[in-house]
Amino acid sequence: MEYTELGKTQLHVSRMCLGTWGIGGAGWDLYSDECRMDAIKAAVDCGINFIDTAPAYNGGRAEKYIGQVLHKLGVRKEVILATKCGNEFINGKYIRCGAADKIMRECEESLHNLKTDYIDVYLVHWPDPNVPMEETMDALNTLKKQGKILHIGVSNFTKEQIEEAEKYCDIEVYQPQYSMVDRKGEQLIQWAYAQRIGVMTYGTLGGGILTGKYRELKAYAVNDNRNRFYPYFKEPLFSKVMILLRTMDQISMERNVPLTQIALNWALQKPFISSCIIGAQSRDKIEENCKVFEWKLNSDEIQLLEQALKEYTECMDEL
Ligand SMILES: NC(=O)c1ccc[n+]([C@@H]2O[C@H](COP(=O)([O-])OP(=O)(O)OC[C@H]3O[C@@H](n4cnc5c(N)ncnc54)[C@H](OP(=O)(O)O)[C@@H]3O)[C@@H](O)[C@H]2O)c1
Repeated sequence: MEYTELGKTQLHVSRMCLGTWGIGGAGWDLYSDECRMDAIKAAVDCGINFIDTAPAYNGGRAEKYIGQVLHKLGVRKEVILATKCGNEFINGKYIRCGAADKIMRECEESLHNLKTDYIDVYLVHWPDPNVPMEETMDALNTLKKQGKILHIGVSNFTKEQIEEAEKYCDIEVYQPQYSMVDRKGEQLIQWAYAQRIGVMTYGTLGGGILTGKYRELKAYAVNDNRNRFYPYFKEPLFSKVMILLRTMDQISMERNVPLTQIALNWALQKPFISSCIIGAQSRDKIEENCKVFEWKLNSDEIQLLEQALKEYTECMDEL
């Protein structure tokens, strides 16, 4: 495992962060409770000390699994927990909720679910256009003064929204989407990094499409995140990703490494990313993903990937 400073927070985080959207059990493939809880333990065993979650991940279920596992292992203090507010999951729908009273209530629930009395990194999950930024950020300031949260962050904000939020509080962490198949936010991420804002990126495996597991176009359930959230599982992007996978297959054969590690390696080599969040729900996948730190893509391989990405990027830019 590699570790780094998360921006100016003075938190020393693993460069791989465990993503727990799937572990919450809604919108992804279903695994047993035992398997999901063992996945969290596997992450700790592999040296991952950074876990990302949210009350929106199946109405707090992901937080509850994490709380149970960390409590049982007695390692709460060794793990840096990032959870979120401002996005509720009610009856299968995600609803933005930046109002101060809701944030105060959500934070209490997260503390309870996670079996802890502090949250290391507390992020606004999505901006709420119906609530003044000042109200949302003031609520987070209050929680920080109370010692319930230690660092404030935002996710899915534009540059303008981050600058607006910074009028009211110190933004220390940013969580955007970033991967080979989604580089739209690259300039903003570089800007955030230059401001010493810690950057934790999600969707590093493009929701799984960069693992090579999906080679045929398929219809997913309405609430499946591969249908609803990540656009690469549909045309016109799907067939462009398949072209990229051919180059990844070539590198995979030459290096004898899984595709997953190529996608992770590509992202981890970006100096402006503090930690990549990877969603996985079983021990074998987490152990396999952690092997990415045993090797590095060389400059020729990165160039090959960039070349293969050209057509995809042009197609995405046109959308
Ligand atoms: N702030 C936000 O708005 C936001 C949005 C999205 C995600 N996130 C965070 O970022 C995390 C990561 O994003 P994500 O989970 O959407 O997508 P992701 O990490 O790009 O991909 C997750 C998918 O990859 C699969 N996978 C992982 N390792 C694998 C391996 N070695 N072999 C084969 N398949 C593998 C997982 O399978 P299984 O599930 O079957 O194990 C899952 O289907 C989330 O869990 C969440 O914590 C935040």
